[in-house]
Amino acid sequence: MSSLRLDDLKQYSDALRTRHGAPLNVRFVEPGDTEELQHYFRSLSIRSRYNRFFGAISELPKSLLHDFLQVGERERFSAVATMMVDGFETIVGEVRYAFHAETATVEFGLSVDDRWQGHGIGSALLRNLECRAASLGAEHLYGDTLRSNETMISLARKSGFAFINHPDDWKLVRFDKQIAVAPKEIPCASWRLAALSRQAASPSAAA
Ligand SMILES: CC(C)(COP(=O)(O)OP(=O)(O)OC[C@H]1O[C@@H](n2cnc3c(N)ncnc32)[C@H](O)[C@@H]1OP(=O)(O)O)[C@@H](O)C(=O)NCCC(=O)NCCS
Repeated sequence: MSSLRLDDLKQYSDALRTRHGAPLNVRFVEPGDTEELQHYFRSLSIRSRYNRFFGAISELPKSLLHDFLQVGERERFSAVATMMVDGFETIVGEVRYAFHAETATVEFGLSVDDRWQGHGIGSALLRNLECRAASLGAEHLYGDTLRSNETMISLARKSGFAFINHPDDWKLVRFDKQIAVAPKEIPCASWRLAALSRQAASPSAAA
């Protein structure tokens, strides 16, 4: 079980920047995001939705939308990247990840709003996710993408992932990265708070 305080998810928010220095907030999805999240997925281009979900959907099916909102349930998490656009906090990207304790891995999928692609948001989300995964105790981070998804393949390659065949679907390729044990250079609130709670659990080690 992770040591995340599910009753206070706001504390795990991270302040990042796009490639051009614009502020980008990454935070767990909250119940109040339901409409905006569905709007975000509806607004993605057909191609982006297809690449994200490996199939033609026009919006999140009800059951998946429900799962997206259950942050922490069965070690599955959803986070959104938001920016202030015309004075409103707007979702410009999302990442969903699952911690598999038995293999010490985190599996993920992500997307960025078409209007905001190419601004370094995907790269920033991946760096942040590596830190979030480390805080859960993961040693590897991996995802699957369609072989035809050159953008994701290029993003994964630039972010230091290695590629392997998908175990049961030839249309997919799996990318995997070993996580640095202490991602000091990519701090995130989850990592800092997990370190603090480990310290509190064994105070003698800090003495
Ligand atoms: C894949 C995706 C998340 C990338 O997000 P992004 O914010 O646009 O990525 P970045 O701006 O950080 O770009 C990172 C790298 O991706 C590659 N890239 C970005 N846009 C590209 C494009 N149009 N064509 C080819 N490569 C591209 C480049 O290598 C880029 O690095 P560079 O800018 O130094 O050249 C985004 O395109 C997306 O949401 N696609 C639809 C959903 C999807 O495919 N999800 C993956 C399933 S896991």
